[in-house]
Amino acid sequence: MDLTIRPRRLRGNDSIRRLCRETRMSPDSLIYPIFVDETLQGKRPIPSLEGQFHYGLDCVNEAVEECLSHGVGRCILFGLPAHKDAVGSSAWAEHGVVQEAIRTIKAAHPDFYVITDVCMCEYTDHGHCGQLCGHEVDNDATLELLAKTALSHAQAGADMVAPSDMMDGRVAAIRAVLDQHGFQNVPILSYSAKYASAFYGPFRAAAGSAPSFGDRKGYQMDPHNRKEAHKECALDVAEGADLLMVKPALPYLDVIRETADAFDLPLCAYQVSGEYAMIQAAAAAGLIDGHRVMCESAVSIFRAGANMLITYFAKELADAMKEGEIG
Ligand code: PBG
Repeated sequence: MDLTIRPRRLRGNDSIRRLCRETRMSPDSLIYPIFVDETLQGKRPIPSLEGQFHYGLDCVNEAVEECLSHGVGRCILFGLPAHKDAVGSSAWAEHGVVQEAIRTIKAAHPDFYVITDVCMCEYTDHGHCGQLCGHEVDNDATLELLAKTALSHAQAGADMVAPSDMMDGRVAAIRAVLDQHGFQNVPILSYSAKYASAFYGPFRAAAGSAPSFGDRKGYQMDPHNRKEAHKECALDVAEGADLLMVKPALPYLDVIRETADAFDLPLCAYQVSGEYAMIQAAAAAGLIDGHRVMCESAVSIFRAGANMLITYFAKELADAMKEGEIG
């Protein structure tokens, strides 16, 4: 057979396959979500997220130390407060659950990188991501609350803040308040293209943040839209975002690719709770090899153009990278 070009030459063994990989990633590109519950002592399994835990403030460092033992040096913090009210005032409390978690982590592990999710939905008694006016979230009134919250995280020692609320103008509002208080060097990771997704279900059960009426379609994006993602990202760039995000990840690989091509900022993807839960459930049912599907999903997200990934699989993925299975 006269075949000059044989692509299989580059697939002959593991060594040459690993040499020729086009997509490279490392444990440095992984961020692990940690849930801290103000009312809890010790840790408690999260029923909707098999393998994940709620941590009390007394043992949040256990979560950190586990990350570090796998080579994962970065987390994003979510808080479950003891008290909720109409405006979510526990979100910016000086001694709120996230603020105390940051201090606890930083006291023991100053180099562990702490990102905070900035949103109101875990803190409001109605479960929406901001202050209500009737049955609508009042955009402009909410900006002040988000900015206060981000500032309180920075004051407690957060390395980076990540607004996930999808209010218009929140990046500019947060940047202004951080700068006024001397936090010019705290970067903003904006949840730029965040879709109104059914894939957040297990998270809302875990964080107690499901809206008590209606849905989030008035502020999160319509899954039908691509160009709108570009518009949201361009606005966030103009408002001073330091990093962009697409969320969810696997169902939105097209948006990840287009955002990576169109913008120069580092791009984060969030493999959300429903993506994780589906893999765990199918693996538990014996339908798929969960480890390999986890690896392939992460590779796909990076191949699409993400530079970093928030994932409940961070520790397992870091192990797979160290083994050379992926990365
Ligand atoms: C808060 C927030 C949500 C998630 C991250 N930040 C829930 C939501 O928007 O309803 C979802 C994360 C996940 O599903 O893993 N607004």
